[in-house]
Amino acid sequence: MQKFNLINILKSMLNYKNFVVITKKIFDRLFGYKQKNYNNYIKFLREISVNHEEFFNSIDAELWKESKIASEEIINKSNKIIKNINYDLGGGGAIDVIYFLTRYSKPEIILETGVAAGFSSYAFLKSIYKNNYGTLYSSDFPYFRLPKPEKYIGIVVPEEFKSHWNLFIEGDQYNIELIKKKINKVDLIHYDSDKSYNGRKNFTKSIEKLMHDQTLFLMDDLHNNEFFIDYVKEKNLFWKILNINNRYVGFIYPKNFLQ
Ligand SMILES: C[S@@+](CC[C@H](N)C(=O)[O-])C[C@H]1O[C@@H](n2cnc3c(N)ncnc32)[C@H](O)[C@@H]1O
Repeated sequence: MQKFNLINILKSMLNYKNFVVITKKIFDRLFGYKQKNYNNYIKFLREISVNHEEFFNSIDAELWKESKIASEEIINKSNKIIKNINYDLGGGGAIDVIYFLTRYSKPEIILETGVAAGFSSYAFLKSIYKNNYGTLYSSDFPYFRLPKPEKYIGIVVPEEFKSHWNLFIEGDQYNIELIKKKINKVDLIHYDSDKSYNGRKNFTKSIEKLMHDQTLFLMDDLHNNEFFIDYVKEKNLFWKILNINNRYVGFIYPKNFLQ
């Protein structure tokens, strides 16, 4: 670990809430669930997944075309902003899917976890703008290894979209409780924050009561562990694994979604 990382982490931990979130993260990394038979699991994901382009194109070809154009614009504009930043902020994996699902289902309330530079938030908000409907609630936690990390959260999101955006940055554990005070249901979810098995389990448990029979749910980076598979099987849900350039995203949808 570089010296400046350690100093930044220690500085962040002076705040009590940060201390709790960071300690939990370190504990999970050291002692949390580790994926068994990793290579077999990845092979399983590869075999069971569907090509995301073919999947969404078959649902609505016109809208998929619009989503590809919109996502290219989002990624290009965002890259221009982050190229001047010296740190890798990550993100930007499922932009076309996020745009498509928001346009297609016209959700009233969207909840995302994991913002980073804000590629995904930008995609939701651009789609909300086009729908002229909906509100985005985002939960994030600053990259505590960076100096003054708060200033990078959502840095690519254009000002004109921010009126439909509620951003919370104290970590899912605290943010979700605050968000739950403001909403009584959730129509579309994108989970892309704490990738540990426990993080995913705690999140789904905490928002279970807000989900309804038409809620759409995306979970990013399934390669980390098999929580998604365990969850959909336990709850007996309709689901697919989307292969987005060999990155695996879980998708839960209502019974009538593909009809
Ligand atoms: C992969 S990035 C999100 C990328 C974004 N969804 C996109 O596609 O552009 C993951 C983000 O989750 C945040 N994060 C990690 N653990 C978290 C936690 N416990 N609560 C909230 N956010 C967390 C990280 O700090 C980082 O900003």
